[in-house]
Amino acid sequence: MNSDRNPIVAAFDAAAETYDSATPVQREVARALVFRAAAAVKKAPRKILDLGAGAGHVTGLALEQWPEAEITALDAAPAMLRKLRAKYPGVRTIARDARDLDRLPRYDLILSSMMLHWLDDPRAALEKWRALLAPGGRLCVATPVAGSLREWREILDAAGMEDAIWGFPPENFALGLGAKIEFADFSAVYPDARGFLRGLKQAGAQTPRPGARPSPAGALRRALAASPGPFKIGFRIAFLISGADQPE
Ligand SMILES: C[S@@+](CC[C@H](N)C(=O)[O-])C[C@H]1O[C@@H](n2cnc3c(N)ncnc32)[C@H](O)[C@@H]1O
Repeated sequence: MNSDRNPIVAAFDAAAETYDSATPVQREVARALVFRAAAAVKKAPRKILDLGAGAGHVTGLALEQWPEAEITALDAAPAMLRKLRAKYPGVRTIARDARDLDRLPRYDLILSSMMLHWLDDPRAALEKWRALLAPGGRLCVATPVAGSLREWREILDAAGMEDAIWGFPPENFALGLGAKIEFADFSAVYPDARGFLRGLKQAGAQTPRPGARPSPAGALRRALAASPGPFKIGFRIAFLISGADQPE
């Protein structure tokens, strides 16, 4: 995939330099995911794949947890992968769309954090990813679900404005796939709502929902001014753990 043609990936690619410092919640979620994965695997995985690896929050923690493993980081944004390689030179990287898994080997552990919701069909992606597991392997995924960024949506609602931020799948989106699912809440505090919007851009996560109209600048300024002071924003995260085919 050419990142220039996918606006989501192009936005992440452009944010590679600021991503790490702008993503305290993503870092925490990555830690919680690797912790859950460590509890889910029966023996130390030899081959690990990090899908939508970005600048390496998950990859770095997986390296700490399984120093002997061969880790591959896949992401469609080349600048993110350059950042990741600078931190973890031993990691193999693949610049590719996470829905195109042709000619990849089987993995004992597949991890993915904060990426699934950017795909048009998260269920189909999960099924494809699961098909890439070696026998006895584990797929461990963290994704935000509906209810995330509720505080921002409330500001826009109060101002009578359309919410253009990317949508999240409903909590039950993976029902029937045979995955074990747990939910946990995470939050970040910004000096004000404007700081949140700035952080979103520095993380590369500002791509609007398809079909959403951009907010008129004046109305947005007024909505932000109506919400001064510290701004706490929440993420509701689903952690999915699945084997190759059997229900957990
Ligand atoms: C929010 S970041 C998460 C990065 C990392 N997993 C973390 O936890 O910090 C989402 C990542 O998914 C990547 N991404 C988005 N859509 C993708 C796609 N279709 N194929 C591959 N990567 C994609 C972006 O380039 C970005 O690096």
